[in-house]
Amino acid sequence: MLKKNVEDLCNRQVEREGYSSILYLSMASWAEANGMAGIAEWLYAQAEEEKDHMLRFVRYINERGGKAVIPAFSKPPEDFAGIVELFDDVLKHEQYITASINEIVELTLAEKDYSTHNFLQWFVAEQVEEESSAQAIVDKLKLGGRNILYQLDRDIMKLRESED
Ligand code: FEO
Repeated sequence: MLKKNVEDLCNRQVEREGYSSILYLSMASWAEANGMAGIAEWLYAQAEEEKDHMLRFVRYINERGGKAVIPAFSKPPEDFAGIVELFDDVLKHEQYITASINEIVELTLAEKDYSTHNFLQWFVAEQVEEESSAQAIVDKLKLGGRNILYQLDRDIMKLRESED
């Protein structure tokens, strides 16, 4: 049985993962509408992954005798200043999610909830990957500037294909 404070933080994470999904969906739609098909593909796929992350929390809370709550989500931004700014936002958002996961990890240790601690290890590893791929894209964009955007768009599309 989940302790109430652990359940509450897990439910907070349901909201944060769900919001991540619609944030990336909005970014994907913006990229697609602006002719960046490869970047849009990457972001659409990220949106799906975040939905899966949300589901993992929902199922885990219920499996452990808690009650997962599906919240209303804030409306994500619909316009972005540019692709560099967009990926900067992705990176910052992932850093925020990592901090949020780490908070739950710390609470599980304080509460000696080793099952939830174990459940969270998948997310700890996933966050390393997500931060590193966002960082790699930000670095490429800053290095190459906007003139390599077309090539980058193709590269990101290929990256996605090789991840499937
Ligand atoms: Fe599920 Fe990208 O954090």
